[in-house]
Amino acid sequence: MAGVLALAPAAAHPLPVEAHARLVASRPAPGEMLGLAPGAVVLEFSEPVSAALSRASVEAPGGRRFGGSPAGDREIRVELTTNAPGVYGVDWVAISAVDGHALRGGFRFGVKVRPDATVQSGSPSPPDLAAAAGHVLEYTGLLFGVGGLLLRALARRRPRLPWASPPLAAGLATALVGGLTGLVAGVLSLDSGVSWPTALAYLGSSAGRTRLVGLAAEAAALAFWAARLPVAVGVALLAAIASLAAAGHAASAAPPLAVPADTVHLLAAGAWAGCILVLALLRPPGGWLGPEGRRLLSRFWPVALGSFGAVAATGMVRAGQELRGLADLWSTSYGRLLLLKSAVVLAMAGLSALAWRRRLLAPRLEAALAVAVLGATALLAAQPLPPVSLSQAPALGAEEASQGLPREGDLTLGDHAGSYLVGLTLRPGRPGPNTAWIFVLPVEGELAAAGVPVRVVAAGAGRVADACGLTCRRVDLDLQGAGDLRVEVGGSEGGSATFSLPRLPAAAGQSLLALEQARMHRLRTYRMDETLGSGRVTVHTSYESEAPDRLHVSVEGGEEIVAVGPVRYAREGQAAPWTRAPSVALRTPFFDWDFGPARAPRVVAAGDGGGGAEQVVSFFEGGSTTPTWYRLWVDGDGLTRQAEMMAQGHFMVQHYADFDASFTIETPGT
Ligand code: HEM
Repeated sequence: MAGVLALAPAAAHPLPVEAHARLVASRPAPGEMLGLAPGAVVLEFSEPVSAALSRASVEAPGGRRFGGSPAGDREIRVELTTNAPGVYGVDWVAISAVDGHALRGGFRFGVKVRPDATVQSGSPSPPDLAAAAGHVLEYTGLLFGVGGLLLRALARRRPRLPWASPPLAAGLATALVGGLTGLVAGVLSLDSGVSWPTALAYLGSSAGRTRLVGLAAEAAALAFWAARLPVAVGVALLAAIASLAAAGHAASAAPPLAVPADTVHLLAAGAWAGCILVLALLRPPGGWLGPEGRRLLSRFWPVALGSFGAVAATGMVRAGQELRGLADLWSTSYGRLLLLKSAVVLAMAGLSALAWRRRLLAPRLEAALAVAVLGATALLAAQPLPPVSLSQAPALGAEEASQGLPREGDLTLGDHAGSYLVGLTLRPGRPGPNTAWIFVLPVEGELAAAGVPVRVVAAGAGRVADACGLTCRRVDLDLQGAGDLRVEVGGSEGGSATFSLPRLPAAAGQSLLALEQARMHRLRTYRMDETLGSGRVTVHTSYESEAPDRLHVSVEGGEEIVAVGPVRYAREGQAAPWTRAPSVALRTPFFDWDFGPARAPRVVAAGDGGGGAEQVVSFFEGGSTTPTWYRLWVDGDGLTRQAEMMAQGHFMVQHYADFDASFTIETPGT
C-alpha cells in the first residue's frame, strides 16, 4: 500500500513536472514568431537520445508533415522545405540512450503569426506506470534476496535459529517478474507501436543489453536457489544489481564511480531495508521480544547500523553526482522526489532506532516504509536528470557564433554555395584594404561547419580563408569594388557563390528601405511567386494577399491553404477535399523582412529593371540564432519587385506583381 501511495502523485500529476527540463532548448523556441520558416527545427535534450528510436515531426500550416531523426548525441533535427505562413506544430519522442526512457512532448511556433507558447508534455502512459510498478517489484525482490541471504547466514550462526528461514524463492521470483514487466513495459512505452524492429532496436541499445544481462542474472539467481547453491545465488544477485545500476542514470553520470556507488548503495540497501522486508515475514517463537527473536535481532543490529551508514553515504554521493547544486533539491522534480525519499528513509531510521531501544517493534510498518522508499526511487529513476549535461555541453558562444556576421556600417551580401548558407561581409567596405568575413552554415548546423575549407577568388587570384570560428572564415583583400568575388566552400555538400560587388563604398540603404516599407504596407492586394531551394530540393509556391487578413497559398504539386481571418482552409492537392480549422489570424500585407531590425543596409546595384528605375538594397537580419541575408529590388515608387532571402537551408527568390489589382480571396466552397 505504501508503494502504491508513493506512486499516487505520479498518477495524479503528470510525471514530467517540468517538461521543459527534458527538452532543454529548441530552435525556434516554443511560441516564437518568425518572418520566414526555418530551414530546420532543432531540438536539444538533457540526456543523450537513442539514434535508432528517437524522432520528431513538424506539421506545417497546410497539414504537411516533415520527419526528422537524431542528428547528434542530444539533438533531433527536422529539415523543412516550406515557407508557408501560419502555425507549425512540433512533436517529438526522445528515447534516452542512457536508460531507455521515452520522453515525449510538443510545442508550436509561427511564421508571420504568434502561436501560444505552451510546451505540451506527454503525461505518463499506462506502459510508463507499468514500467515504474515493475521497477518497484524488481527493487523489492532484489533487496529481499540480499536481505534474505544475509539473515539466513546470521541465523546459521551457533546457536542456530531454524525458524529464521526466509522465503527466498518468492523474493527472487518477484525480482524476475518485476524485471520482465519493466522491460516489456519499457518497450511498449516507446510510443511507436509494438513492432519487432523497434523492440529489437531497443534491446540492441546499450541500455537494453544491460537490462537483458540483469534479467538473465535474476533468472540464474532463482535457478541457483532451486539447486541450493547459496553462494552462486549471491554472485548472481550481485550481477543483477550491478546491471541495474549500469542501465540507469548512473551510467550517464559524469564521475566514473557512479555505477560502483550505485551498486554499493543497492547492496547496502539490501543489507538494511532488505533484511527489514524479510523480518516482517518471519514469526519467531515467542515473538520478537522473546529470547529467539531477540537473539536474531541482536545479531542484526551491527549489520543494520553499518549498512544504514553505507546506504545514506552512497545515496548522498549519488545525489551529489546527479544534482547541479542544492537549489536543484526544490527547483526540479528530481530534487523534490529525492527529498520525499529521504524523508521516508528518515522515518524508517526513526522506527529502527525505536526498535533498537525496544520502545516499539513494528517490522511490518518499517517494511511498508521500505517499499514506499522503493516506490519513490522508481519514480526518481524514471525522472529526467536535472540538465547537468547541458552546462557541460560545448555551448556555441554568442561571441564565436557572431563572428563572421555583419556590423552596422559594413557591406554585406548573402548567397548559398551548395547547401551552405554563405554570408560575405566587407569591412570597412571602402576602396583599399578590406577584411572579407565569410559566414558558412550548412543545414546540419554550426558543428558541421567546423573545419570546412573556404577559398575566396577575387580579381583572378584565389586565397584560402583562415578559420575564425566554427562558422567564420576571414581573408584580407585589397578591393576597389565593381567586380566579382567568388566564395568556394569545400565538402560534399559545398559549392561556390559569386557575389557581384558594387563600387565601393556602397551608398547607405536606410532611406530606400524606409520608402519600401511604407509603400508595401499600404498595399491592399498583391500576388507573389516564390522559389524555395534548400540546396537539395526546390519548391515553387504562389501567394495572393488581400488586406487585412486574407491569404491564398498554393504549393506547386502540393497543398493549398486559404486563410480568412481566424479560419484556415487547407487541402492536400487540387483534387483533395478542403478541411477547415480555426487558427491564429494572419495580418496582411506582411513580408519576410518585416521583423527587422535591418542591419547594414546598403544599395548594392541600381539600374533599369524593365518597369522603371530599380535599386537593389542588401541587408542582414536575425542575429546569430537565425542569420538571414536579404536583397530587395525596389522600384521608384518603393514597390519591391523581387526579393531574395538567404537563410540556413532556405534559399528563396520571390517575385511580386499585381499590386492593388482588383481581386478577392474567397472562402473555399462559396
Ligand atoms: C538518505 C538516504 C538515501 C539517499 C540520499 C538516496 C539517494 C539515491 C539516489 C540519488 C539514487 C540514484 C537514483 C537515480 O538513478 O537517479 C538512488 C538509487 C537507489 N536507491 Fe537510494 N537513497 C537513500 C536511501 C535508500 C534506501 C534506504 C533504499 C532502500 C530502501 C534505497 C534504494 C535505492 C534503489 C533501489 C536505487 C536504484 C538504483 C538504480 O535503479 O540504479 N535508497 N538513491
